[in-house]
Amino acid sequence: MTEEAFDVIVVGSCMTDLVSQAPRLPKAGETIHGHKFFIGFGGKGANQCIQAARLGAKTAMVGKDFFGDNYIQNFKDNGVHTDFVGQTSNSATGAASIIVNDAGENAIVIVAGANMLLGSEELHKALPAIRHTKVLVCQLEISPQTSLQALRMAQENKVKTIFNPAPAIPDLGPEFYGVSDVFCCNESEAELLTGSSVGNVDEAHKAGQELLKRGCRSVIITLGPQGCVVLKVEEPSPKYVPTTAVTAVDTTGAGDSFIGALAFYMAHYPTMPLEEMALRANRVAGVSVQAVGTQTSYPFRKDLPAELF
Ligand SMILES: Nc1ncnc2c1ncn2[C@@H]1O[C@H](COP(=O)(O)OP(=O)(O)O)[C@@H](O)[C@H]1O
Ligand SMILES: *[C@@H]1O[C@H](CO)[C@@H](O)[C@H](O)[C@H]1NC(C)=O
Repeated sequence: MTEEAFDVIVVGSCMTDLVSQAPRLPKAGETIHGHKFFIGFGGKGANQCIQAARLGAKTAMVGKDFFGDNYIQNFKDNGVHTDFVGQTSNSATGAASIIVNDAGENAIVIVAGANMLLGSEELHKALPAIRHTKVLVCQLEISPQTSLQALRMAQENKVKTIFNPAPAIPDLGPEFYGVSDVFCCNESEAELLTGSSVGNVDEAHKAGQELLKRGCRSVIITLGPQGCVVLKVEEPSPKYVPTTAVTAVDTTGAGDSFIGALAFYMAHYPTMPLEEMALRANRVAGVSVQAVGTQTSYPFRKDLPAELF
């Protein structure tokens, strides 16, 4: 098994994105003409896994998709190990219907489909690999109980964990705060979880402190063009990690690019300070917002400056 050890294992979602671009979002009952349609590969879990792989991490995905080979091929094309991606015909493929207007705003309906069938059986099959991976990453686009179980399996085996509570659920159980090394979310998720507004660095620091109180060991809250804040239970003062704001073309999946990069850095540079990893993850995610699409906008190692490695 040792020669099979992965840098990063992601237990999470695969989604097929159905994207329509239209001048504006339709109202209820209305039909409007759009000017472009495309099908893309998405799902937070898969996105994060592919960004980590593109930076050079040896990755495996633990997921479930509708019986079809498209997504498996997409993982393979990105160098992701797919033995733990189960296929089923008992549910439709996880799908995200996305409408994007000319201002770049969107409206999204997610139907998790096959992602909800991922459970204990698949986790047990992946356990030998989970035991030896350097980093495990989970989100909330699969059953929360499956994420919790995966995070606990990793912790029992002293594997570093990242938990991205996205999409956030307001009544997230208290047990979710203590099961990761890094709890990483965006402004709206931090707001929903803590119940207080998170619109600037100061408010993000306060929300981060509340998340530490709930049991998190470290917290990162991403702030779009402003970068992110980093808090650690062992250091009383929160850190603001700014970034160089760029003109965004499409910010879809920026948070997933950030988390995939963070997973890569945690696996490859285990002693690097978390603020330095966050600074570099800001830079990677900043590149991803400058091209259209989700995974299609994620940079490869060769596209990035050498100082990031
Ligand atoms: N306009 C931007 N300029 C530079 N970096 C950006 C920009 N937008 C997003 N980022 C980077 O992407 C990260 C995640 O973005 P954010 O909007 O917080 O996440 P989400 O995709 O979850 O909404 C930010 O922390 C930052 O590093
Ligand atoms: C945060 O992520 C969620 C998806 O989990 C997304 O719907 C929301 O728009 C994001 N918020 C910000 C401020 O980027």
